[in-house]
Amino acid sequence: MKLLEEVQLKLVSSLKGKDLLTLLDYTSEEVQDLIKLATQLKALTKEGKCPKLLDGKTLAMIFEKNSTRTRISFEVGMHQLGGKSMFMHSRDLQIGRGEPISDTGKVLSGYLDAIMIRANSHEMVKELAEHATIPVINGLTDIYHPCQALADLETIAENKGTLKGLKVGYVGDGNNVAHSLVVAAAHVGMDIVVATPDGYECNEEIIAKAAEIAKANGSIVAVTNDPVEAVMNADVVYTDVWTSMGQEEESKKRLADFKDYQINDELVKFAKPNYMFLHCLPAHREEEVATSVIDGPNSYVFEQAENRLHAQKAVLASILA
Ligand code: CP
Ligand code: NVA
Repeated sequence: MKLLEEVQLKLVSSLKGKDLLTLLDYTSEEVQDLIKLATQLKALTKEGKCPKLLDGKTLAMIFEKNSTRTRISFEVGMHQLGGKSMFMHSRDLQIGRGEPISDTGKVLSGYLDAIMIRANSHEMVKELAEHATIPVINGLTDIYHPCQALADLETIAENKGTLKGLKVGYVGDGNNVAHSLVVAAAHVGMDIVVATPDGYECNEEIIAKAAEIAKANGSIVAVTNDPVEAVMNADVVYTDVWTSMGQEEESKKRLADFKDYQINDELVKFAKPNYMFLHCLPAHREEEVATSVIDGPNSYVFEQAENRLHAQKAVLASILA
């Protein structure tokens, strides 16, 4: 696979040893190359020929929150690349008893080749990355979910044959998934319109930074409170849960505040007929999305979930090889 070698070596030369905390820290070319590598690794894996690029490498995976996709796809991805992974819940580590995250970062750097962490606080993950001498990968924080966004791009590219020039309509909470999706779309020149209820908008600074990246790639980032505006002529319709992990106490209020923001048959009539429905999962049917849409013919959510495996392998093979 000459193409694989070329793309991977190019990525290794720019990304080896680098953290993945947010896609804002990556160039558009790096993001685009990661998607190409993910698709190639997927094809090779399906032929039973995933290259053992990470022989002898160990990834620690630290979780402060639940996970199905992130945990399993990272674990299987390391295995397919010939490396090893270790799962731990943060409460089982000494950080659960107050050991400083800075000391933890320094200690873990002596044993491991990389750390993947799912944490409540993005600031905490930044602190870990500052003190660790090995790459730190963000497996979801309160602000970003970059690995999800890479899998999202891969899924769109593989089904639409292109990314540049498409339109994504995101309807729902201006949360971690929305932030990473906006940045990812900007890097590949896709237009993205985010519709949130009043009071649940995306972080303005992230939107401004993404808008600058989008401009350089010939696309736009727009925000609105109108779901129809987001979905109008969209190639991709995206949503996420209304209540993220850690916000459970707000769930009753959120149910009321988001009630006009459901992706349902009425709303998707405004999208292109061949629109793709995406959701990072887990989903709450009949809340943020109607069952008829998520289980309907335009839904790609399970392929999207599978692509976490290949997109993350592309990241691991670039920053760790
Ligand atoms: N989409 C996602 O990150 O899923 P998990 O919470 O199951 O990891
Ligand atoms: N926004 C959701 C995503 C879960 C993968 C959360 O943070 O709970």
